[in-house]
Amino acid sequence: MRIGVFDSGMGGLTVLKSLIDKYPNNYYIYFGDTLNMPYGNKSVKELEQLSSNIIAFLLNKKVDIIVIACGTISSNCLDYLKKKFDIPIYDILSPTIEFLKEVKLDNTAVIATTNTIKSGIFNNLTDYQIECPLFVPLIEEGKINSIEMENAIEGYLKGKKIDNLILGCTHYPLLEKNLTNYLGKINYINMGKVLANKIVLDDEYYFLELNFSKINANIYRLCARLFNDYEIKEVK
Ligand code: DGL
Repeated sequence: MRIGVFDSGMGGLTVLKSLIDKYPNNYYIYFGDTLNMPYGNKSVKELEQLSSNIIAFLLNKKVDIIVIACGTISSNCLDYLKKKFDIPIYDILSPTIEFLKEVKLDNTAVIATTNTIKSGIFNNLTDYQIECPLFVPLIEEGKINSIEMENAIEGYLKGKKIDNLILGCTHYPLLEKNLTNYLGKINYINMGKVLANKIVLDDEYYFLELNFSKINANIYRLCARLFNDYEIKEVK
């Protein structure tokens, strides 16, 4: 099965990793729109345009299904994309939202991009809904272990009682160590893992193709850390 997975940048690689861990033998084709990231504060029109272009690219690669590994596109463009493209489309938020509706968790927060929080998709599902606009640019700039990141984490989370934290943006699993340093070993909900546990895929043969609209050293490093065997390309 050929599975197209996309995000604004490197964040969706965390979803891809969860899918490959669960289903190691598929043909995965990833696109990270690093040239146009961050998506978190773009207009819905722009997001529709950018995500349509990516899906067209993946369709050219003959994918059988699409996984939107981006919370921002999932929360703002899902209906639009499902109407526009005649291919099964799975989004990253729905499995986690279903999970939150099924279980009763106390002291729950979701952290996500401004667009995801503003979409209202997590309304009434958590005690706190926190926009974290600095996280994606800092992660993409390779500043995960910087003082700016420490300050941003403190600024967003200070004074809140959190036992369950939903990582509502696919970049944020890359911050789990930093968040644990600040919040301790609470329950971190990784949407990629929730999706991988729900989705059912054929498992035939392995191939991994990673495409980015702009590549830098951080991306090379992260891909080498997450995956063993892949092709990586810059495509415009
Ligand atoms: N990984 C994207 C998400 O899940 C980040 C969006 C952005 O580029 O701001 O929302």
